[in-house]
Amino acid sequence: MAERNLSLIPTLVASPVEWLDAVFKDFDEFLKDHASCEKKASGMAMSVAAHYPDKPRLLNAMVDLAVEELNHYREVIRVMLARDVVPGADQKDPYIHQLNALIRRGPEYFLLDRLLIGAVVERRGAERFGLVAGRVTDPELRTFYDAIADSEERHWELFVDLAGEFYPEDDVCRQLAIFTEQEGQIMADQAIRPALH
Ligand SMILES: [Fe+2]
Ligand SMILES: [Fe+2]
Repeated sequence: MAERNLSLIPTLVASPVEWLDAVFKDFDEFLKDHASCEKKASGMAMSVAAHYPDKPRLLNAMVDLAVEELNHYREVIRVMLARDVVPGADQKDPYIHQLNALIRRGPEYFLLDRLLIGAVVERRGAERFGLVAGRVTDPELRTFYDAIADSEERHWELFVDLAGEFYPEDDVCRQLAIFTEQEGQIMADQAIRPALH
């Protein structure tokens, strides 16, 4: 990400320690949700790709992202199979639903908001996978979650960079700051459960 952005973007509100406790109380349940989130992230990237066939840089980035998220999904499924955890049905994700409701529908804002909501979701994912990596004791799982956290960190920067390709830098920074604050409130309002959100 361009350095000029960083000083203007609020820091992420930290996830509560109770969330991490809940994850480690039922790690298998967390894995099921994690798999589901990766699958949905891949689908979201494909959906953006499908909506903007006339924007080659965006199309290319979203197709790459869809493949990467699908690879994450495959990796989580393998972790689950090794632990004899059976994937569950996808659950509703109120956090994502509430964030998507912030996307303004006007054509002048829609792509900006979609990309920046993508950025805040990826940023939260990076924070939480990093927390999981910091507590998990199994060395293979720690390596796995470290890699996932790094990947999601790159993704939120990618979304901000893409927004900067289509919108003025000031608009990107201002809207990202707004969404970051709103995300902090939405995150804090969620029920604590062994799930990514
Ligand atoms: Fe991912
Ligand atoms: Fe991601």
